[in-house]
Amino acid sequence: MTEPIKWVEKDRSAKNVFWPTEEMKRHAWVADEAIYEQAAADPEGFWAKQAEEISWIKRWGKTYQFEPHNYKWFVGGKLNISFNSLDRHIEAGKGDKIALIWEPEPTETEVIKLTYTELHREVCKFANVLKGLGVKKGDRVGIYLPMIPEAVVAMQACARIGAPHSVVFSAFSPESLRDRLIDAGAKILITADGYFRRTKKIDLKRNADAGVEGTDVEKVIVVNRLGDGAQMTADRDLWYHELMADASDHCLPEEMDSEDLLFILYTSGTTGKPKGVVHTTGGYAVQAAITTKWNFNLHDDDVFWCTADVGWITGHTYVNYGPLMNGSTSVIYEGSPDAPDYGRMWAIIAKHKVTALYTAPTAIRMCVKWGDQWPAKHNLSSLRILGTVGEPINLDAWLWYFEKIGGGRCPIIDTWWQTETGANMINSLPGIGPFMPTIAGRPFPGINAQILEVGGKMQLPPGEGGYLAIGGPLPPALLRGVYRDPERFKDQYFSEYGPEYYFTGDGARKDEPGNVRITGRVDDVMNVAGHRLATAEVESALAQNDKVSEVAVVSRPHDLKGEVPVAFVLLKVGADHSDEIRKELIKTVDSVIGPTARPDEIVFVDNVPKTRSGKIMRRLLKSLVRNEPLGDTSTLVNPECVDELKGLTSYKG
Ligand code: WTA
Repeated sequence: MTEPIKWVEKDRSAKNVFWPTEEMKRHAWVADEAIYEQAAADPEGFWAKQAEEISWIKRWGKTYQFEPHNYKWFVGGKLNISFNSLDRHIEAGKGDKIALIWEPEPTETEVIKLTYTELHREVCKFANVLKGLGVKKGDRVGIYLPMIPEAVVAMQACARIGAPHSVVFSAFSPESLRDRLIDAGAKILITADGYFRRTKKIDLKRNADAGVEGTDVEKVIVVNRLGDGAQMTADRDLWYHELMADASDHCLPEEMDSEDLLFILYTSGTTGKPKGVVHTTGGYAVQAAITTKWNFNLHDDDVFWCTADVGWITGHTYVNYGPLMNGSTSVIYEGSPDAPDYGRMWAIIAKHKVTALYTAPTAIRMCVKWGDQWPAKHNLSSLRILGTVGEPINLDAWLWYFEKIGGGRCPIIDTWWQTETGANMINSLPGIGPFMPTIAGRPFPGINAQILEVGGKMQLPPGEGGYLAIGGPLPPALLRGVYRDPERFKDQYFSEYGPEYYFTGDGARKDEPGNVRITGRVDDVMNVAGHRLATAEVESALAQNDKVSEVAVVSRPHDLKGEVPVAFVLLKVGADHSDEIRKELIKTVDSVIGPTARPDEIVFVDNVPKTRSGKIMRRLLKSLVRNEPLGDTSTLVNPECVDELKGLTSYKG
């Protein structure tokens, strides 16, 4: 029996502080707090040491090189991340270890387990398929796949031949897919006929077909997941399994420069247009590998399950590259946590003896709602570590996760990071702690996260709220650019505090020992059920409906989803404020972005509050839906509309 985690204080109204058990400390890769000071004294030396943990074809020269807006890590180093994920372990005699466990949604479908040798073979074959279609180093490849093993194979194959992948979340609409394919200039798309979601078959191919229209995509490779015979377009569509049948399983990994492009991943910024976050090879590989190892304390007998979809950064780093670079076993699950019943997650943990679970607060809150009886039915004693990511976790969800899932034994590693940072930045380490609900923890060793004042550059003392920024040396896995938009890169991340500080867009404060509490986004970006979304994106989607004259979208806190969009819509003359039109608007959002972006509420208005310069005053709308004081409304050109809006919302003043 493991001893229970040390419980310092259990008072729901005060602070809960938990520390690692002696056993956890013994088992942990790092258990000595001195690591923070050592890394802070010589961050470049710290990262160089971590870089030794992966394989390089050629060692780097300078560890870190900084020029404004142009920073490099492991300069001149050569490596391949697919070699590091696969070949390296086979060479070390771990070829028979399970690399990937795929749990399909239908419980009657067989689980697929791929050893490192098997996964390597699939990746090499698919890399040759891509080469055979003319894909060369530097060519961008679109991936629009559900959670099936081929998603990992495809990403790894791209990385093997140096073709940057651009993965698009499979629940995104054709239009979202099209925009991303065009921006990335992809000529190849890898997709599937479909997948299972809540026991239904989802026709992904139809969306892919619509999405490639008007793009430069010449070939579409289709994985036969459902086996129902998808509609194939002659001269364009090719079956994955047919291409694989003839492919050679020998493919040397491409020699990649440390700063060569590894992948592009689109995420929401503050405008209506998502930006292509650019990640390069060396720094990303090092930070992805070490954060996975230390945060989840991965050893040879661990089974790691990160529930994120491959369409998000968490899926890139902690389903694919991080666990595989560590030679670990990574679990992927195709479907929904409520299929066939509310206990599916816990059944998967018991079945595969998962030791580390990494999921999102929104999923935990949903499980809390479904009730304790579901996890209680399953044996969760294999779990050693729990992780969360994507949004602040509230106290009740934290305690439930800790008690009901972790059985009071497992530390909760609350990891703060972003698509842009590529890998974890702020979290408590399992052998050091402390683990405190709602507090992410200390910046990872070697990460210089600061709370800066708003409007100046002063570092704020403990307790004071400001903006979260990351100072030099800028982290190894930090984005290197916005694809084909250098101005947006500078503007978005380096205009608030200048080129020396990466501006995160989050508010935060620190306590005395330096633990960071994230207070949420300070810009117009929302976090809806763990999905990042700009209010401007939802606005521009709604504006595509021809009945809409004007629209403003703001976020509102939500018990389960964290945040949800609320839309204020001014319809054109002749359109009535009906539920029919509400439904139609929801459909518009579904088709432009996807169902994740659906407004929680649509408020029809006759007027939107505007400033004298004609801008919609979203701040006021946000306060209205949150029942917060409205603040200064004197700059409004139409102050009379505020009273009308009060009546239309739940605002109580
Ligand atoms: C939020 C997800 C509080 C934050 C990896 C950030 C968090 C945005 C946490 C990035 C956390 C992420 N606590 N907030 N542990 N982790 N966030 O790009 O607002 O999808 O800026 O990356 O999620 O979302 P993204």
